[in-house]
Amino acid sequence: MNAAAPDKAAAKRMLSAKAERFTESVIREMTRLAIAHRAVNLAQGFPDFPAPDEIKRAAQDAIARDVNQYAITWGAKPLREAIAEKFARSQGVSVDPEREITVCCGCTEAMMAAMMAVINPGDEVVVFEPFYENYGPDTILSGATPRFVKLRAPDWAFDDQELAAAFGPQTKAIILNTPNNPTGKVFRRTELEFIRDLCVRWNVFAITDEIYEHILYDGIRHISIAALDGMRERTITINGMSKTYAVTGWRVGWAIAAPEVTAAIRKVHDFLTVGAAAPLQEAGAVALHLPESYYQKLAADYLARRDRTLAMLEEAGLACFKPEGAYYIMTDISAFGFPDDVAFTRFLIQEIGVAAVPGSSFYNNPADGSQQIRFCFCKTDATLDAAARRLKKLKQRK
Ligand SMILES: Cc1ncc(COP(=O)(O)O)c(C=O)c1O
Repeated sequence: MNAAAPDKAAAKRMLSAKAERFTESVIREMTRLAIAHRAVNLAQGFPDFPAPDEIKRAAQDAIARDVNQYAITWGAKPLREAIAEKFARSQGVSVDPEREITVCCGCTEAMMAAMMAVINPGDEVVVFEPFYENYGPDTILSGATPRFVKLRAPDWAFDDQELAAAFGPQTKAIILNTPNNPTGKVFRRTELEFIRDLCVRWNVFAITDEIYEHILYDGIRHISIAALDGMRERTITINGMSKTYAVTGWRVGWAIAAPEVTAAIRKVHDFLTVGAAAPLQEAGAVALHLPESYYQKLAADYLARRDRTLAMLEEAGLACFKPEGAYYIMTDISAFGFPDDVAFTRFLIQEIGVAAVPGSSFYNNPADGSQQIRFCFCKTDATLDAAARRLKKLKQRK
């Protein structure tokens, strides 16, 4: 018997070093805690109101018509054509649905497939923080080294010099998310032009997550960086159905990119998931053809929710950063004197009965978010009423 064998086996690393480098999703953990304590869930950003009837009917029809087998791996043709048509109509960018679009299982997979398609060992990726928590594991799993650049409250502006200093010969991509989760920032044209100039100078991709493109307030417009001169060929635009059509559980998203980039994304996507749910892609084509009035009503309804949630949180003593887009409100909790955001969030769930997300989960260095927490407001009036009643108790504690 070889005496060395057991030692050797013990020395073998049984779990992936990559998987050890990130924790489970804090946001989804908060949802589980909210269920356990029967708290009103203003943590995870899923709508608790119905999806539009016409798209639910379209999904039912597709199943009844037996659209029940694999779609083309990079997406059903009617959906890709609808995506191309809508991108041209809303942003003036024309793309070829045959060579420049990949339908994935949500933005989540589209982002991962895009990163895996362009990242090589040693590549750096610029990430604005606070950031949507998936971007951390996305960089780790794709092998990129993140370079974080701060968006600073109250208006979440970035410092031009800090951003310029984050770019260099190793930079492969910048991840952009506009309208932004968690801050509600909507990047302005001048900011996008500054980013564009850096991307061109350093020959860098912009990977832009635009899932909240239709949830905008106060007359602010969403601009896709792909529409800027010089960016069409170097942008990977990520989007999806989850938020615009209130179907987060359908898992339909997409990546739009130049043909050679798309070819790489399609290969990664094929071997990750083969494809998104076929009948739901058919319904997606119907959704993307909804009239302009659908998007106007969506934005108006969210404006009402934003304003009432701001009033309710402020009334409870939370200092709010007013969002320009998306459906989250970042708040400052320093007035409550808790040691950190996690302790405050646990207290909020267990004692007050409202769930939120600790700010630290949006920062590379948890200390940077230790006095912030995020609430979402993609909820019915009844849910927001219940939260408002419970938050009255918070005011008394202050
Ligand atoms: C910025 C951002 N991107 C992507 C997603 C997830 O998108 P999908 O449901 O299409 O995977 C979310 C969900 O909260 C998000 O906030």
